Amino acid sequence: MQQQKIIILDFGSQTTQLIARRLRELDTFCEILPYNKFPVSDPDVIGVILAGSPYSVYDPEAFRVDLNQFRGRMPILGICYGAQFMSHTLGGKVEPAGSREYGRANLSSIDFENPLFKGFDENSQVWMSHGDTITALPNGFHAIASTEKVQYAAYAADNEPIWGVQFHPEVFHTLQGTQLLRNFVVDICGSRQDWSPANFVETTVAELRQQIGNDRVILGLSGGVDSSVAAVLLNKAIGNRLTCIFVDHGMLRKNEFQNVMKDYECLGLNVIGVDASARFFADLDGVTEPEKKRKIIGRDFIEVFNAEAKKITDAKWLAQGTIYPDRIESLNITGKVIKSHHNVGGLPEEMHLKLCEPLKWLFKDEVRRVGRQLGIPEHLIGRHPFPGPGLAVRILGAITPEKVRILQDADDIFIQGLRDYKVNMPAEQAKKVLAAGSPLEYTDNGEVAVSLYDQIWQAGVILLPVKSVGVMGDERTYERAVALRAVTSTDAMTADWAHLPYDFMAKVSNDIINHVKGVNRVCYDISSKPPATIEWE
Ligand code: XMP
Repeated sequence: MQQQKIIILDFGSQTTQLIARRLRELDTFCEILPYNKFPVSDPDVIGVILAGSPYSVYDPEAFRVDLNQFRGRMPILGICYGAQFMSHTLGGKVEPAGSREYGRANLSSIDFENPLFKGFDENSQVWMSHGDTITALPNGFHAIASTEKVQYAAYAADNEPIWGVQFHPEVFHTLQGTQLLRNFVVDICGSRQDWSPANFVETTVAELRQQIGNDRVILGLSGGVDSSVAAVLLNKAIGNRLTCIFVDHGMLRKNEFQNVMKDYECLGLNVIGVDASARFFADLDGVTEPEKKRKIIGRDFIEVFNAEAKKITDAKWLAQGTIYPDRIESLNITGKVIKSHHNVGGLPEEMHLKLCEPLKWLFKDEVRRVGRQLGIPEHLIGRHPFPGPGLAVRILGAITPEKVRILQDADDIFIQGLRDYKVNMPAEQAKKVLAAGSPLEYTDNGEVAVSLYDQIWQAGVILLPVKSVGVMGDERTYERAVALRAVTSTDAMTADWAHLPYDFMAKVSNDIINHVKGVNRVCYDISSKPPATIEWE
């Protein structure tokens, strides 16, 4: 059976990705495509959503789509700009709203008979955010809900499957937004709701086998979640025709290279571990400027990886753990680059490798769910993000093996402390804190114990380029200071410093000063992003 899909046409709104998240939560596969890229000949599309836009339908540069590509062939839902665009194009009227309609509103005059509002409550709360408003509907359309200020908060066509809503069902503040989207994709479009990790693994493994045939594939492993899940998935599909390369640049966490190599071997992966640390240390000798450090590490990494990859002379494919948000960000149709992302990249042209990205449709939490489905151990799945250049961007000033050793020891105490310190909380709260699908550790009184590690987005220690005076026993010391960094975040675009318990910080500080030779002072970084960043360099 083919994979049913809903197409979400992107007109540049920030919330378009959220619509996709909501549909995936309804176990329905969907794709976000630029407004002008509707896949006319794809037989698996069961419905289309026209999303929001920063433009007004009257802006000369506003994005426009030819509705005839799908009108009459499948149900259509317009959201905000999408609703206004359809109304405007089909003969209705859209005008600037007296004042921008922004914030919470309550629906009234809901047509409870309409399938879009099945299960809705009277006065259901919705979230509005638009500068224009529909003042007349096209012939053959009627209102199915209003708000105090907006007459046509939602509309439907009399005799064809077209709906429009001027509010945003995808945002949290629209309390029955998921119900509305379920009504559309399940009841109206007929989604079978069969998009699940098990289903994904099964169909992707079959597709990979077909795509790759008897070829050999190379994949760069980093120890992170995405590349690990991609590797295990490919391994399931093609076995040891997958060769993984894991480069140790010498700036990983304490014992990380050895531990992760062991994990990979237990998972049955065919991995070549390359210890290239001497080369990286030599090239970084005396370099203090952050961008220069990053450039050297990036260049060396590619050269080391390529040298290994070239040895696998019959490889035809390069696999990468690229995930959906990486691609949406780089495809962003309004042209604003939000985040450049870091891939192996730059393989020599003469190798003519084809690109294979088995996770390219998944969001991060879906990657984790797929990882669990594949039996990858929890300590790999739940890992914090870690920057490609590793501890190099956490050592301010020149890098030496001795400084890396000091930082690794301090970092190890901090991270292990975060894992060991558990906070008991009601199960409902724990489910909100933990990533979807994480196993719950129940206590005797029915609460759930959640480690500080699992409550935060990312943590690490920074080695500062200052020394300060201290006293140990009867001795005066003159040693280094480290800063602890721990942040909460949902996507690393913004972050807040984590409010760690004082007793925890006291213990970590003591442990670091007592056990890490060379450190006599510990600080805690209380800056948020923006204006600070998560890393210090
Ligand atoms: P910043 O410091 O920009 O970091 O707030 C945002 C997120 O990106 C990670 N990061 C990197 N990841 N290569 C990576 O793979 C890099 O060069 C890099 N720099 C920052 C950082 O750890 C955080 O999760």
